[in-house]
Amino acid sequence: MRWMRRLGYVLAALAVVYLGAALYFQRTNPRPTLDAAATTAFTPAWPSAFLWGTATAAHQVEGGNVHNDWWRFEQQAGKIAHGDRSGAAAGHWERVAEDVGLMRSLGATAYRFSLEWSRLEPVEGQWDETAWAHYGDEIAQLRAAGQEPVVTLLHFTLPAWIADRGGATAPDFPDRFGRFAAEAARRFGPQVKWWCTVNEPQVQMYNGYVTGYWPPGVKDHALAVRAFAGLLAAHASAAAALRAGDADAFIGLASNMIWFEPANRWNLLEWFVSNTVAEGFNWSFYESIRQGRQSFSLPGFPSLDVEAPALKGSVDWVGINYYRRNTVTFSPGSPGMVEIGNGPGTVSDAKVEIFPEGLLGLVREGWKRYRLPIVITEYGVADSTGAHRPAFIRQHAYAVKQAIDEGVDVRGAFHWSLMDNFEWAEGYGWRFGLYRLDLKTLARTPAPGAEEFSRLAPRPK
Ligand code: FCB
Repeated sequence: MRWMRRLGYVLAALAVVYLGAALYFQRTNPRPTLDAAATTAFTPAWPSAFLWGTATAAHQVEGGNVHNDWWRFEQQAGKIAHGDRSGAAAGHWERVAEDVGLMRSLGATAYRFSLEWSRLEPVEGQWDETAWAHYGDEIAQLRAAGQEPVVTLLHFTLPAWIADRGGATAPDFPDRFGRFAAEAARRFGPQVKWWCTVNEPQVQMYNGYVTGYWPPGVKDHALAVRAFAGLLAAHASAAAALRAGDADAFIGLASNMIWFEPANRWNLLEWFVSNTVAEGFNWSFYESIRQGRQSFSLPGFPSLDVEAPALKGSVDWVGINYYRRNTVTFSPGSPGMVEIGNGPGTVSDAKVEIFPEGLLGLVREGWKRYRLPIVITEYGVADSTGAHRPAFIRQHAYAVKQAIDEGVDVRGAFHWSLMDNFEWAEGYGWRFGLYRLDLKTLARTPAPGAEEFSRLAPRPK
């Protein structure tokens, strides 16, 4: 019976080691928490020049963007919820002056928006002067209204001519995108300091090439990794063009980040898979930039590891688009061996959990990794009744403020969105706006949350 006693000791020792390791993980990865004051009507003293902004993207608000891949995709049956199409969107192309007025009346100090490449270069190699002039005028109006422009060059939509030959996977995509960035820098460099090369490259890759839910509607892991590499190269090429054409360009990109947690904090395997997913989804684009290597590795995908020195130093700030917490469950039967779920909190109309603490956690982590200024390039909530938005804005603002008080250099936060708009494959079903959009008349009226946004805006000193 001695062996049984021995086995008992061994098992007990293993249990102690396991518990010790699980405790260690919990201690070293504490769940971020907001101070109790986060739920009160606090009045933040933002740092000077803080960008308290709203955000939109060209295709979602302008209307009539007929020369891109999304427009074509929308014409196919079954691609967009309720059979919606971007169509006239929020009619922003004709309503720039009105919308700049809305920003001003909200007390915003900055506006993040995108230039629609397919409008500016509808035919390969030919600039549309009227469209360039339109954006030039918009930038002038923003400046006159005290709105710092933050200009995104690629917010998902691609000109049809580049989409036709493979979009993000086309061999000349980085070069063509760089040429577009050079033109933007040449024309707008004197008026624009804040540039955002690409929006959510991982989301573009995932929805376009893994689930096939977005254009080009492909399900192919090898092509997905090629798209990831193409977007990295395109970013590097645009950053180089911006540096060459605009001496004070301050360059970043907007990366979608999710606060991932193991579903069971005592399960070491779930810590491992949750960290792997976070590393792949949240950080691989920025890590590639830091290392000067295109690198991506996630189970089930071909791995990418190619030297790319042009990536080094290509960002001056780190953009984070934050919307939710996800729990990760180890699940050998599922694709990628994980199941992604929601935590226990309230979910929005988009069925994602509202978890402002996650923003604090991600900002801390981004700062720890890169020591570069951080911008919350998007945060927002799909909330058609407006029941959640006021508290949502307050708590996310508080998370930002708490990070600043801890010493993190956060330069701004942009609410998604200024007004309701075309939410990609969800069509007009999700309402994220500080202004509610009447889908028939395109009239804008303040939505719940607009008042709270104004109340939190920086006060002129
Ligand atoms: C982000 C996108 C943005 C918008 C919001 C709700 O992922 O960047 O265009 O659709 O989600």
